[in-house]
Amino acid sequence: MSKFPKDFLWGGATAANQYEGAYNVDGKGLSVQDVTPKGGVPAPGKSSPVITEEPTPDNLKLEGIDFYHRYKEDIALFAEMGFKVYRTSIAWTRIFPNGDEEKPNEAGLQFYDDLFDELAKYGIEPLVTLSHYETPLHLARQYNGWANRDLIGFYERYVRTVFTRYKDKVKYWLTFNEVNSVLHAPFMSGGIATPPEELSQQDLYQAVHHELVASALATKIGHQINPDFKIGCMVLAMPAYPMTPKPEDVLAARLFENQNYLFSDLHARGKYPNYIKRFFKENDINIQFAPGDEELLAEHTVDFISFSYYMSVVQAHDPENYATGAGNILGGISNPYLESSEWGWQVDPVGLRLVLNAFYDRYQLPLFIVENGLGAKDVLVDGANGPTVEDDYRIDYLKQHLQQVGEALEDGVELWGYTTWGCIDLVSASTAEMSKRYGFIYVDRNDDGTGSLARYKKKSFAWYKEVIATNGESLYQD
Ligand code: BG6
Repeated sequence: MSKFPKDFLWGGATAANQYEGAYNVDGKGLSVQDVTPKGGVPAPGKSSPVITEEPTPDNLKLEGIDFYHRYKEDIALFAEMGFKVYRTSIAWTRIFPNGDEEKPNEAGLQFYDDLFDELAKYGIEPLVTLSHYETPLHLARQYNGWANRDLIGFYERYVRTVFTRYKDKVKYWLTFNEVNSVLHAPFMSGGIATPPEELSQQDLYQAVHHELVASALATKIGHQINPDFKIGCMVLAMPAYPMTPKPEDVLAARLFENQNYLFSDLHARGKYPNYIKRFFKENDINIQFAPGDEELLAEHTVDFISFSYYMSVVQAHDPENYATGAGNILGGISNPYLESSEWGWQVDPVGLRLVLNAFYDRYQLPLFIVENGLGAKDVLVDGANGPTVEDDYRIDYLKQHLQQVGEALEDGVELWGYTTWGCIDLVSASTAEMSKRYGFIYVDRNDDGTGSLARYKKKSFAWYKEVIATNGESLYQD
């Protein structure tokens, strides 16, 4: 008997800016991710990328891998694996190239119509992120991104347009990718052009407020347009462990988690939690509410909680006394009990079970794991059926995580689905390179942009196909 529910949504996840390519085709405008420098986004707290310069082929990020023209071929491969769901984002800049136009770009809308129709041919459910690190560059330059309340109105126009257009084609929606990451990457996540070192806490948390209000507004509008829509938030989940049992370390871990719970609490409970009011008071932060904000947040909470999970973190009251992990998303203290990926991200399958239980206990809302996976350097070799990758390390990573998902299901957690990150190799968000690969499908593309873009199945392709076909039972064989 499988531990996974019979209608469990197995699948994979991507984002438009990392996958589609064609960044300036059919009227698309530039997004903040299109100008991420080739070396990747700066470390947390460091200055933002080329916001003042005109984008040129030299400072533009490595382009996506041409899903825009190859979506039929790629979706056929997803279908061959048995995907029940496929997560992607709509590029806001295909619909409103600058973000502040009155009228949408029909060519952009048509592309997603074709994409959703292609998924429907195979019975694959789309799961759509409305904003995945894709704020229009013009809104960053002209308005300072989400630091400006005007963004709510631009986002409203955009979401109303796509909800209306795709109301019969898409049921599952996410309002903002990793909405809490604006605290660590204000330009990439929130289109905030002010360099982080000059950005006040007041302006940063005011931007957070704008995004949260916009998310509640999207939830309201979506449910008006189609009451059957399932609209969720999406947070970067990072369980925090205390470095020692010292109560001050335990408290440090709790306070770190509160910074992230702020986002899911507001989405699920509809009001600012008391613990954050203390933080605001102590840091002189005074959030400006417009009339109606409070009611909007309270009345339009989400239908489900979705999250990405890559790693846990360690917190201490005196972090300077411990070794740090350079490659961790936030560069925090290393956990001596965990191994790390080639990029230093610490691998912690049990942390996933903890996260699932923590969210479910807190909200009793359905959950959806919308990102999880291992970024690794793959080597193409000759196989019996052509070029392939022997990626046993990826299989091992995913198997361990999915077994912990099975544990959480036995703990009683309600989970709708699981989409692995980068089910096909795509451009890395943090390093803007190809060599950090997550996929079941290898894409012939190098960091310098050369390569044929041909697609090859890795060993993990057949492995995941079997996991889906057996509804997870194969995870427990041999
Ligand atoms: C998540 C993002 O943070 O992690 C994705 O939502 C991203 O966009 C993924 O690609 C993996 O990170 P990276 O930096 O390895 O691409």
